[in-house]
Amino acid sequence: MSILQSTKFEQVQHIFRELVGRETAVTVQAPGRVNLLGAHLDYNEGWVLPGAIEPSVWLAAAPTTDNRVTVRALNLGETAAFQLPHLELFASSVGGSWINYPMGVAWALQKAGYELVGMDVVLVSDLPQAAGLSSSAAVEMAFLLAWETLCGFALDPLSRAHIGQKTENEYVGVGSGMMDQFACVAGRANHLIYLDCRTFSHELLPLPPDSAVVLVDSGVRRRLTNSQYNDRPAECREATAVLQQHQPHIKTLRDVSQDELELLGHHLSQTMRKRATHVVGECARANEGAAALRRGDVTTFGRLMRQSHISSRDNYENSTPELDLLAATAWAVPGCYGARFAGGGFGGFMQILVEETAVPQLIESINRAFEREYGRTPPSLVTKLTDGAKTTTN
Ligand code: GLA
Repeated sequence: MSILQSTKFEQVQHIFRELVGRETAVTVQAPGRVNLLGAHLDYNEGWVLPGAIEPSVWLAAAPTTDNRVTVRALNLGETAAFQLPHLELFASSVGGSWINYPMGVAWALQKAGYELVGMDVVLVSDLPQAAGLSSSAAVEMAFLLAWETLCGFALDPLSRAHIGQKTENEYVGVGSGMMDQFACVAGRANHLIYLDCRTFSHELLPLPPDSAVVLVDSGVRRRLTNSQYNDRPAECREATAVLQQHQPHIKTLRDVSQDELELLGHHLSQTMRKRATHVVGECARANEGAAALRRGDVTTFGRLMRQSHISSRDNYENSTPELDLLAATAWAVPGCYGARFAGGGFGGFMQILVEETAVPQLIESINRAFEREYGRTPPSLVTKLTDGAKTTTN
């Protein structure tokens, strides 16, 4: 553990002691993630290339004896509590609050047969929220790991990711895949994870040591539950159902080849056809991108990121003018390999893969272009890819 990390662990333990009046039993760091290629492929059973990043959620907890879970979310200045073990399904109907994430994890774990304990929890985060960097998955994984430690069970990374996905799909009400949670717990320093979301096999692929990931905040915020995010999985299922009538081997859009799409595309509405065009093309890009990284060809990988952004913008229609400006500005900077927006889209962060030495010039160009168009400087941060979630006990 680096000095910086141990300090952060100690800080959250210190805050816990001050606020709760006793010692922490378990402390967890759960990182956010980037997803450089494979946009919206996880729920289509395609291939994705995420990686864990430095900005994280930090959780300090100690067990209680009354089955009550009390969470102090410092960044929000809010405290919320719930009682185990009877958790109502679809808590989101009571307002879509952040407490639904820990409640949903408790619900999913209990449904899977795990016995949980109550906890006092302090939550601190330097991960921007509702910004495409997976702050909700980080919260879910932080709680899951805390319960694993306090209750004496241990899940493998894939099972953890599936608990997170169940939380999102069935409790919170977002039809997302499992990429975010998997990246949070399975990340490796300086590596992207090339994950097959059907077979769940994965491979770690290195990025060049002298590369950096720059994250730029477009300032547009979306909440997945409120946005059109859920429309996309539904549209993909609808397109699949039509194509399946002609080619029964098609179970998801992952199974559709470029040739099949050309042959059968006229059976789809214009919108369905656009969505399918993105998914089929993105599957090819993710696989080509993984092959490029395997041979150390980050230039090709970056070109594919650029094509991926364009396809998201034009076919999946989940970009924004702010994100498009950030992408186009980044692409023009010497030393920038590629850029595409993060996560579900409809706002949030731009993610830029760049030679480390080109970072100052990149940020300067972006600030100038954004300032000219929108009259403000977009916040940006530079990060490396990091290891997945970590736990310490006292
Ligand atoms: C969000 C979802 C993920 C994935 C991405 C898009 O982050 O939570 O499951 O679908 O969007 O790739």
